[in-house]
Amino acid sequence: MEEAKIGFITVSDRASSGEYEDLGGPAMRDWIARVVTTNWQGISEIVADEQKLIEKTIKNMADMQGCSLILTTGGTGPARRDVTPEATANVCDKILDGFAEQMRSVSLKYVPTAILSRQIAGTRANCLIINLPGKPSAISECLNAVFPAVPYCIDLIEGAYLETAPEFIEAFRPKHALIRGSLRKM
Ligand code: MTE
Repeated sequence: MEEAKIGFITVSDRASSGEYEDLGGPAMRDWIARVVTTNWQGISEIVADEQKLIEKTIKNMADMQGCSLILTTGGTGPARRDVTPEATANVCDKILDGFAEQMRSVSLKYVPTAILSRQIAGTRANCLIINLPGKPSAISECLNAVFPAVPYCIDLIEGAYLETAPEFIEAFRPKHALIRGSLRKM
């Protein structure tokens, strides 16, 4: 079976200049390593909070490296330098509002400041892009909230076939998709 490519982008002025250790990138990668059971290969980048640079990094991962999924962390808040959602929206063909709605509503159970995240998700050709806040705990809180729908979303945009460890995430696929999936795995 094809190997899925997954991109991890840490968006942070301080992590990209080396002033801070990048905790978000490893947190996203560890979460995926725990949950995704099909073969995958990760590509990681740390970039400053510069809209054009974020757009270029997403486009390169999606178009040139063939990522089926890109997770970003950081830069989703209201501060002047926070531009990750704008960059994401600019390179997506379709915005999937349900992801942001679900991530914020679940996050509000943890912190009242969850409403400060302007995180979005969308697709660019065969790639799903999901913004996550910068805090490592927010990464798992948000991924736990939306990941059951991620493998089927990637099926629909004809990206790689992903399976998950059911003890962590029960990926939901409609019955007809399960039959197609078993054919794809052969
Ligand atoms: N979501 C979850 N699940 N957990 C959190 O701790 N922090 C919030 C919010 N969303 C948080 C969260 C805070 S304090 C901010 S400022 C925004 O995400 C934006 O964070 P970012 O600018 O690092 O992306």
